[in-house]
Amino acid sequence: MDGDKKPWDPSQLRKYDLNLEEIPRLHYKDPKIDEYIKENKPVVITESNIVKPAVQRWSLEYLERNLGHSGHTVFVSRNHKFKYYDEKKIYNRVSNTKGVEFTPPTRKVEMRIEDFMKRVKEWKKGDERIYLQQSLTTTVGNNIVEDFVKFDWDYVNGKQTKHNWGPLTSNLLFIAMEGNQTPCHYDEQENFFAQVQGYKRCILFPPSQFECLYPYPVHHPHDRQSMVDFERPDYNKFPKFKNVKGWEAVVGPGDVLYIPIYWWHHIESLLRGGPTVTVNFWYKGGPSTLEYPLKDHQKVSITRNVEKMLLEVLQDPKEVGPLLRSMVLGRYTE
Ligand code: FUM
Ligand code: FE
Repeated sequence: MDGDKKPWDPSQLRKYDLNLEEIPRLHYKDPKIDEYIKENKPVVITESNIVKPAVQRWSLEYLERNLGHSGHTVFVSRNHKFKYYDEKKIYNRVSNTKGVEFTPPTRKVEMRIEDFMKRVKEWKKGDERIYLQQSLTTTVGNNIVEDFVKFDWDYVNGKQTKHNWGPLTSNLLFIAMEGNQTPCHYDEQENFFAQVQGYKRCILFPPSQFECLYPYPVHHPHDRQSMVDFERPDYNKFPKFKNVKGWEAVVGPGDVLYIPIYWWHHIESLLRGGPTVTVNFWYKGGPSTLEYPLKDHQKVSITRNVEKMLLEVLQDPKEVGPLLRSMVLGRYTE
């Protein structure tokens, strides 16, 4: 975009004290895209046809008319943060004494698209915020299905084959209010993050930054999320967060960001930019070949497995940390 006037300005970005470089933007025909994907590095693919029918047609009005009139999955938050949690890992005093005590930061509700749009239009400061996150593989209206079928499947399937990814697991549609934020986390899947309407800022960190980002324990409902609040980082608790180094891109209609498997990402719709629409394509990772040296994301996967295994044998999450500590202290630490 060098030299071009950007369709947004820095006052639309929240201020973070972070060391970030810009993610490269490459034309979809540029063969260098495959080098990035091969090396598990993020890249913004520009001017592709990947979700062109959506970019051309999926205005909020069109989505309201065509998404289908049954309920859609909507998260409700008292602030701008929509931090993911795994319902299956929530403590239930009666039936599961092994979980952790936890108050979900958001509520999940079913909402008709008309009601969702009305609340977005009538939203005023102090109201709860909402964020629609709906799978496109479940019930959506016929026009949406027709547009979906016309996505450039040759292109995305081509990348899947070339890079030996596993199957496509889902396409999720996100409709966000301006300023909504998905706090920093990683997913265990490859992701083509296709921006349809409006602008989102995406801040990414490689798996090597694991120890600067302080993930919750694997058994916690916030598994895969960073414990650090980017807006008010507690440097006493999380001192290495000061050293974290990452990448960023602001993506707009027609841009597709490749978020490599296990890469951390913090995503927010720009302030005062209106609602945003995104579709993402999640693919399982390819078969893991143990070539040495191992890649950073493979080490994260091993860490997860060790944690899970210990929990399975100890049966109590409170015992995992002390056991790990006693294993390394004085033997693997100085
Ligand atoms: O808010 C978001 O667009 C989040 C996407 C993701 O985590 O993949
Ligand atoms: Fe994600």
